[in-house]
Amino acid sequence: MSTNSPLLLVLSSILLCGFLTKITIAFSIKEATIDDLQLAFKRKHLTSRQLVQFYLKEIRKLNPLLRGVIEVNPDSLYLADKADQKRKAKAPGSLLSLHGIPILLKDNIATKDKLNTTAGSFALLGSVVPRDAGVVVRLRKAGAIILGKASMTEWAAFRSKFLPRGFCGRKGQGRELSHVGWSRPMCRTVRDAVYVLDAIVGFDYYDNATRGAAKFIPRDGYKQFLKPDGLIGKRLGIVRNPFFKFYNDEGSVKTRAFKHHLDTLREKGAILVDHLEISNIDEIINFTGSGEYNAYLAEFKPAINAYLKQLVKSTVRTLADLIAFNKKFSNLEKTKEYGQDTFEAAESLRGADKLLKIAVQI
Ligand SMILES: *[C@@H]1O[C@H](CO)[C@@H](O)[C@H](O)[C@H]1NC(C)=O
Ligand SMILES: *[C@@H]1O[C@H](CO)[C@@H](O)[C@H](O)[C@H]1NC(C)=O
Ligand SMILES: *[C@@H]1O[C@H](CO)[C@@H](O)[C@H](O)[C@H]1NC(C)=O
Repeated sequence: MSTNSPLLLVLSSILLCGFLTKITIAFSIKEATIDDLQLAFKRKHLTSRQLVQFYLKEIRKLNPLLRGVIEVNPDSLYLADKADQKRKAKAPGSLLSLHGIPILLKDNIATKDKLNTTAGSFALLGSVVPRDAGVVVRLRKAGAIILGKASMTEWAAFRSKFLPRGFCGRKGQGRELSHVGWSRPMCRTVRDAVYVLDAIVGFDYYDNATRGAAKFIPRDGYKQFLKPDGLIGKRLGIVRNPFFKFYNDEGSVKTRAFKHHLDTLREKGAILVDHLEISNIDEIINFTGSGEYNAYLAEFKPAINAYLKQLVKSTVRTLADLIAFNKKFSNLEKTKEYGQDTFEAAESLRGADKLLKIAVQI
């Protein structure tokens, strides 16, 4: 469904711990990492049920404003109970790092459970996927609890160049998600991200792009490379143009946060090479000029058609069906306001193979 590299797609698809602000149990969950949570489980200060209940409450409280969560898994408490039972029955240390940890998935990641997989579109509401996506199989195997689905912005942004970031037909109701809501971290710490990476990395039988990746995966996973003092002496380039142009407004919350992050990196021993310029940056980020747009268009139609075709149940089976749906239900999908120019361009693209070849060669 996406032309991003699989690993990036997967990483950007997982939102952990996004809604935690406080908990009344013995320790603060606001800053709790996966290790903290596992320790609290082990010491019987916390159960997965309590953790999931906490999340569900936070989602109920914050979602009317943030609209970050499209659906909550009706089985999440049942799954939490199962995780708690298993923790009781198994020897300490034999459980995997994500055991009993709730995770939110982006809504374009297929789950074969009670959750819908819609990529934020009403067109796919009620569709039935044939199986869990590879990443979901792995997360479940690692003990994670699928708590729910997060809104899907990339899909909306893909449909039309004019859709605002954060637009989401379903539940987003056309409202732009607040930045507070959307820029939640994927994980709280690098270590948490590595736990997730170790769980999900690998070959996916249904995704040929992952073929050949196995030889790059370290035998004992990525945890072995985590070093508390790993930043000492590392030279990091900071490219402000164009990514952080807006951080030049001294005094704004964003600028202060950005500066704080840079200070933290320096404190931890990194050598920052600030204001690095990439000479051909305008060309690189030019979506049409770089060939990226053509690559998107050329890959999208066959990929989305293949996805829709293999669904067990769906009212849309092709990109043409999706375009027709967006026209028919233009109020629901805000089609008049934002259009679906990218969908239409992909549908009518001729010579896709050749365009893709040229785009990739640039
Ligand atoms: C999935 O979508 C159906 C509508 O087709 C809805 O009835 C159901 O509640 C949704 N599932 C969840 C878990 O929200
Ligand atoms: C993956 O590649 C193999 C061999 O080239 C091919 O037979 C298979 O159809 C491909 N699978 C998918 C899902 O594209
Ligand atoms: C991007 O590339 C296109 C096609 O090469 C060109 O027409 C356009 O002016 C470029 N845009 C920018 C902002 O450089």
